[in-house]
Amino acid sequence: MTTPLGSDVPRVDGRLKVTGAARYSADHSEDHWAGRLAYAHVVLSTVARGSVRSMNVDAARGAPGVLAVYTPFEPLRIYSASRGETYAPLQDRDVRFRGQVIGLVVAETIEQAREAAALVSAEYDTVPARTTLAAGMPGEPVEGDAEFPAQAAPVLAPGVASIDDALRASAVTVDITVTQLPQSHVAMEPHSTTAVWQNDHLTVYSGCQGPANYANTLAERVGVSRDNVRVISPFVGGGFGSRVPTWGDGPLAAVAARALGRPVKLTLTREQAFVLTGHRPLIEQRVRLGASRDGVLNAVSHQCWSEMPVAGGWNEAPAGETTTVLYRTPNLAIEERLVPMDTPATWAMRAPNEAPGMFALETAMDELAVALGMDPVELRLRNDATTVPGSDRGWTSRRLAECYRVGAERFGWADRNPVPGSRIDGEWLVGHGTATAIYPANRSDVPVRLTLRDDGTAVVSTSTPDIGTGTYTMASIVASDALGIPLDRVVAELGDSALPAGTAAVGSRAAGTLAPMIQDAARTLIGEITALAVRTQRSPFHGLDPASLTYREGRVEGNGRAVTFAEIIDMADLPHLEVTTEGGAGGPGGGGAPEGPVAHGFGAHFCEVRVNRFTGEPRVSRFTTVVDVGQVISARTARSQLVGGVVFGIGAALLETNPIEEDSGRFAGANLADYLVAVNADIPPIDVSWIDYADTAFSSAGARGLGELATVGSSAAVGNAVFNATGIRIRDLPITLDKLI
Ligand code: MOS
Repeated sequence: MTTPLGSDVPRVDGRLKVTGAARYSADHSEDHWAGRLAYAHVVLSTVARGSVRSMNVDAARGAPGVLAVYTPFEPLRIYSASRGETYAPLQDRDVRFRGQVIGLVVAETIEQAREAAALVSAEYDTVPARTTLAAGMPGEPVEGDAEFPAQAAPVLAPGVASIDDALRASAVTVDITVTQLPQSHVAMEPHSTTAVWQNDHLTVYSGCQGPANYANTLAERVGVSRDNVRVISPFVGGGFGSRVPTWGDGPLAAVAARALGRPVKLTLTREQAFVLTGHRPLIEQRVRLGASRDGVLNAVSHQCWSEMPVAGGWNEAPAGETTTVLYRTPNLAIEERLVPMDTPATWAMRAPNEAPGMFALETAMDELAVALGMDPVELRLRNDATTVPGSDRGWTSRRLAECYRVGAERFGWADRNPVPGSRIDGEWLVGHGTATAIYPANRSDVPVRLTLRDDGTAVVSTSTPDIGTGTYTMASIVASDALGIPLDRVVAELGDSALPAGTAAVGSRAAGTLAPMIQDAARTLIGEITALAVRTQRSPFHGLDPASLTYREGRVEGNGRAVTFAEIIDMADLPHLEVTTEGGAGGPGGGGAPEGPVAHGFGAHFCEVRVNRFTGEPRVSRFTTVVDVGQVISARTARSQLVGGVVFGIGAALLETNPIEEDSGRFAGANLADYLVAVNADIPPIDVSWIDYADTAFSSAGARGLGELATVGSSAAVGNAVFNATGIRIRDLPITLDKLI
């Protein structure tokens, strides 16, 4: 059998998706609920800060089909979460941001619920809201901790008193400040929850990134035992971070269903999802670099100020974290501040921290290359780190320099003209830019179940969902390879909190975590099927020494006989044979660990931009990315993830922004016509490839994960290309045409 490992096989769930057979969260309207499913709609505050003085719900209560109206004056009890939003909607009259849930209407149909919600009115006592970073400055310093030690104290060379001294002593310096307004996750699938109670057992259908974690938090927020909650999430139309926390809509649907004794479905509109399911925080960063005249870094300072809503959210301040590991420097200081604001809760989005952080650092590196008169690829190679600055820890594997060499060749970097504005093609100015991709690789030993069935198929089972990334395909390929059976005889069963926990689909860790665990389960299962073969009376191998038998391609072989695992299971009168992995089995583990090598994915981006000389319109015309991620398991879905990352980078550079109106605290964007994501017309063919090898110091599978990697640095490559095209440096994203004329 030819292994599918690393090859370009179609998605195993592709047919289900393109035929519409794959059911996403809002698609669950089971027949046996017919006539019982009720629909909820949320009512949002229209002021950004203050308190609700009074509400009028009479018209809503009297509207057709309405079953119930809940408000802070007549609430349903839910509890606050430890992550995501840190308040609980409807539990008090405080308004923390514009668009906070202040009411919930439940009706017989979705139209009736929405109509009645529009009839609810509220009076407020208002207070001026902090809707800009300036209003919340200077912010709270973030202390270093075990996870982010670099914040604790700067790394300084002997005899250097401070990072400012190190910068002053450097021959060449740059000092830049970059800003980025909020961005929205915009998962394609609407955020929807359907909650069903059977006695005191709650089943929830909700697309989420970690059904096991979601069930834990939902149990807390609803106030029931974890054992009584099951979360089902077989298909997810994109998460990008927005489906990690248990936002208030899920618990509200659950308690409404309990109160009414009926299943309840609550689906957010796009505008509501913008406000209620997190956004990438507004962030401002200052990067200062000091180098010798021949381009050797002497000092790196990275300071971040990040929005931190009082309603809770994600700490984006460690945007400087990857700055602590990318380049060799004797002096390094990271400072991070959280700025309190009266804005909707934030959450991790598509390479949180790293994506904005590397836009800042890699823009500064480009500016340093210009100041030095040095090629920007050469500058990066000259400062490529071999150990983490300030420590002697190396990497499980790090082939960044090879990515740069291969990428430069594929892109034709040698033909670049370093003089900005010097390459003209008709009405277009053409520019070339480069930047580094880097993203942490983490894995841990987690439970995964592998089952051999008497029909000759194998099932790999874990609560980890496929959020569109290709996890069904990846898990099936690993099991097929490890068991030596064809891919079409493997079934992946994912996205259900009742399955062995696996990992949440966060931080690009599903493949890196699951692959070695599936391999480990396969090794154990092969031992067990062999043991079963010698133990079973009806087996031709009965009574033999197991060591005399071999397993190959789904068969146990020995004594000139070969018997399939299906036959052995059948002879033993078993329905199936299964194992669930335990901890400590995945082989060496990089990342996360307090000692030993650290682990990251790496990559080199090369971008060609064309800027219209008359309108200023910027268009990306070519893009090449080469990554170092260790073993690629599923070539097709890996390529899609990497292309998607570049698309996000282009979007962040040129299009994606959701400003908050200063006076109202309202997002400027309410839909996908206001909030621009890159579409096909914005994206040229993207050339992605990888260095082909396995990082066996990271895990037995050698695969480090790659989901978010290409999102990092790609926006800087675009900005650097815009500078090369025009001589104009834009440090405030997105780079729109008005800034280029
Ligand atoms: Mo992701 S932004 O790690 O869900």
